[in-house]
Amino acid sequence: MKVSVSVLKEYDRLIKAVKKVNESSADFLHVDVMDGKFVDNEKFPLEVVRDVKQISEKPLDVHLMVESHDLIKEYAKLMPEYLTFHVEVIDDYTLIDYVKSLGIKVGLAINPETDIKRLMPYVDDVDLVLFMSVTPGAGGQEFKEEVVDKIKAFKKVAPSDLIISVDGGVNQKTVGLCKYAGCDMVVAGSYITNKENYEEAIKQLR
Ligand code: DX5
Ligand code: ZN
Repeated sequence: MKVSVSVLKEYDRLIKAVKKVNESSADFLHVDVMDGKFVDNEKFPLEVVRDVKQISEKPLDVHLMVESHDLIKEYAKLMPEYLTFHVEVIDDYTLIDYVKSLGIKVGLAINPETDIKRLMPYVDDVDLVLFMSVTPGAGGQEFKEEVVDKIKAFKKVAPSDLIISVDGGVNQKTVGLCKYAGCDMVVAGSYITNKENYEEAIKQLR
């Protein structure tokens, strides 16, 4: 199981948290960008993500909870490993094609209440699907178990090389559900960053 560490809850101690992720075996550093529109919160402006990229020794997995396509393009200029935006904000392939043309891997995130039908037109064109297992906008929420059936249904129809990731409320218990659902990757925030020893928590999720 690949582990991407969200440092959202450590926003006020970001440098320290990023360094701790560097010292761990984490596969990616997950950055939660929020615009105050798609979600109420506002976090990780462009210059902060640029600074994080400078300090991070892990590839960045940037999760954009934003509406504006122009804003998504701005974050793409930072050239993260993965740029994930929400299926709820697109109607066609334009943005996916644009981000791919820059050589960035594209992820599509889907909210807990959105039907997987929305993903189907794009599954052959993206690298990753990020299933939200909480309502986006904040860390430290409880894992919504209904996402497990949704992922299982999606796995039946999705291309076999598409990476399936889950974001929100992942901990030592709920990671078992993610494995059962057939996920390749989990995003975990508070479960890891609330601990002094990040590596211990990451190992429990693998
Ligand atoms: C929620 C974010 C998540 C969140 C995960 O909007 O997308 O990445 O930070 O945090 P935990 O693991 O604490 O639920
Ligand atoms: Zn996220």
